[in-house]
Amino acid sequence: MGGRSAGGASSGGRSSGGTSAGGTGTGGSSAGAVGAGGSTGATFAAVQSIFDDRCVTCHDASKQGLPSYPALPLTADASHAALVNVAADETCGGTRVVPGNPDTSYLVQKLEQATPCNGSRMPRPFEVGVATPLTADQLATIRSWIQAGAPP
Ligand code: HEC
Repeated sequence: MGGRSAGGASSGGRSSGGTSAGGTGTGGSSAGAVGAGGSTGATFAAVQSIFDDRCVTCHDASKQGLPSYPALPLTADASHAALVNVAADETCGGTRVVPGNPDTSYLVQKLEQATPCNGSRMPRPFEVGVATPLTADQLATIRSWIQAGAPP
């Protein structure tokens, strides 16, 4: 228990409205990459808002059948437990999230590598076409959170 309980952080209004996670953006910089806490890394709330935006259409335990992937739920209730220190299904990938080590985290590899060791780059397209990769800001947010130890 690291002092900070993410659960309590005002759960209101964070349903992927498009506003930067964490709310009232004072500096105008897209929050998240550095996170509200200064040098402590991005918060999991900032990471979750990316999942809410780009991933949960498929990564939801209640959705069956391709292209869904219920074995890795990324909904707010389940994502942290499904990622951190959990072995990847695609075993070439090792561990989904290795706290403190973004480079060896399969989550990062699946988002950054054009051809991951198995399957497609995420987010993958629904049926045909291509899906837009995450932005550099979003990738930096996820890396920062992992680097900081992947706190809840
Ligand atoms: C259109 C549906 C779809 C979307 C959107 C999507 N995924 Fe996936 N995801 C899948 C499917 C299907 C697989 C398994 C096949 C593969 O790897 O291509 C998968 C596999 C993965 C894996 C590997 C899991 C393991 O344990 O081997 C990770 C990590 C992942 N997705 C993360 C994400 C993230 C993060 C996002 C959002 C940025 C995302 N995905 C968006 C369908 C999707």
